[in-house]
Amino acid sequence: MPDPFKLDLSQRPRRLRRTASLRALVEETVLRPQDFIAPLFVVEGKGAPEEIASMPGVFRLSIADLVKECRALWKLKVQAVALFPKLDAKLKDEEGTQALSEETLVLRAVRAVKKAVPELTVITDVALDPYTTHGHDGVLNAAGDDVENDRTVGILAKMAVLQARAGVDLVAPSDMMDGRVGAIRKTLDAAGFSGTGILAYSAKFNSAYYGPFREAVGSAQAAGTRLLSKATYQMNPANRREALLEATLDAAEGADIVMVKPAGPYLDIIREVRGRTHKPIAAYQVSGEYAQIQAAARLGWLDLARTRHESLIAIKRAGADMILTYFAKDMGQALR
Ligand code: PBG
Repeated sequence: MPDPFKLDLSQRPRRLRRTASLRALVEETVLRPQDFIAPLFVVEGKGAPEEIASMPGVFRLSIADLVKECRALWKLKVQAVALFPKLDAKLKDEEGTQALSEETLVLRAVRAVKKAVPELTVITDVALDPYTTHGHDGVLNAAGDDVENDRTVGILAKMAVLQARAGVDLVAPSDMMDGRVGAIRKTLDAAGFSGTGILAYSAKFNSAYYGPFREAVGSAQAAGTRLLSKATYQMNPANRREALLEATLDAAEGADIVMVKPAGPYLDIIREVRGRTHKPIAAYQVSGEYAQIQAAARLGWLDLARTRHESLIAIKRAGADMILTYFAKDMGQALR
């Protein structure tokens, strides 16, 4: 019998993987329930929760059910929510005027949630897509072939003030118009809301992964069926430098937190933004990222709990301080 094969190695990284307790000592990234922001969909009326077909386990909630969900999240130590309204079609118009009503759905939802769970961080989107018949994030020019940047920013700034007045902790411009963060900051300060923060969707890519979300809020029209594409304001997935430019501009304009969206397919962007700003970074694991994990799990092709955890660890490891994810509640439960 020849001697068993032996390597003369001074470095054996496997030594620290030998036992669970050694592995825990050298673990570099840990998820906490407090890392997550739960995106929640709200609808009018008192109806039962409606499940979104392409997002199993995600529901459109009445305000009463939304409040219950927020209490449940808070108990699980998931301490932040981002609210998205799905409006009745009859409330939508070309200009999205419903967005500037004090009594619009999302503002009533914010007031109800803040009353019930005052310490919960409440975030609202600043963008017109739930409010416009065409589903774009802003208002169109006369020819209907462009979203008018500056006029849209004027409306968004007013929207942010209404949200601040309703009690949100952070307003989150998700529209990708130029100069909106600076304009929102100025308008909030002038209205006496210097304490309301801005979570800027800074590097928001024009992504196919938003499909299920557009079903959830009914903004699918803008996905490219009209002459105008969201590619005229959301970023080209091919571009890295431009993402850094957007993040730098938003930080300089006064964003308190910069966001990269989607998250999983853009880990390189998260990492590079991390290297260039001292602001906290948020990443949004979007509807399509959620849907693909759920779909594979339903087919029995992936283990749901493990894939979910790994997808989120990867985002945090890349440099995100906080993650918007439809798995927030599941993670709160899993991490108990
Ligand atoms: C729009 C908005 C979108 C999402 C959040 N805010 C979609 C879009 O730009 O069409 C997507 C979130 C998701 O896919 O989970 N203002």
